[in-house]
Amino acid sequence: MSNQNASRQTVTSSYALSTIEEIISLLKPDLEKMKIQLTVDIPETYILPADSDLIKQVIMNLMLNSLEAVQPSDSIRIEYRSKNMKDRDFQGIVIKDTGAGIEEKYLDKIFEPFFTTKKDAESKGIGLSLCREIMNQLGGIIEVKSEKGSGSEFSLLFPLSPEEKR
Ligand SMILES: Nc1ncnc2c1ncn2[C@@H]1O[C@H](COP(=O)(O)OP(=O)(O)OP(=O)(O)O)[C@@H](O)[C@H]1O
Ligand SMILES: [Mg+2]
Repeated sequence: MSNQNASRQTVTSSYALSTIEEIISLLKPDLEKMKIQLTVDIPETYILPADSDLIKQVIMNLMLNSLEAVQPSDSIRIEYRSKNMKDRDFQGIVIKDTGAGIEEKYLDKIFEPFFTTKKDAESKGIGLSLCREIMNQLGGIIEVKSEKGSGSEFSLLFPLSPEEKR
């Protein structure tokens, strides 16, 4: 019997560190080829309030973008972040690279579907629009900070639940 009608159980949280470690192991050949220094600084107990398959797609897209923006000797850092915005508390993770950075005039365009500055045929400008779509679906936000020539920082932030605030 096929199980075509079986729906996937909704998972609502995942340990950030193990999710990130899974992605890093998939990207190991790329990281080694590029000789990129990668640092991960996430508390072992930090849980992302997000389905692990969905958040993995977001983190993977951000990592791929960073890998496309760096050169050997650059670095990528993934760290925990907490932040207060407009009287609301958020926490999540940040993916930072010391790569090419983004021109200011593009910063409000990069999340649009099909916006790309890359010349290769494989780059369609899909990654970040997918990331934003998924983060909306998960009730979180994605933010960017970047300067041409100095690197980029993408934050994935989720509002703190009442239990987390206690
Ligand atoms: N870490 C980064 N460093 C520098 N530029 C970036 C970074 N991440 C995104 N960008 C810029 O944002 C644009 C859009 O990114 P997005 O991931 O949506 O598309 P893409 O990477 O060009 O193509 P695709 O993801 O479909 O392969 C990129 O073309 C690039 O100009
Ligand atoms: Mg991309």
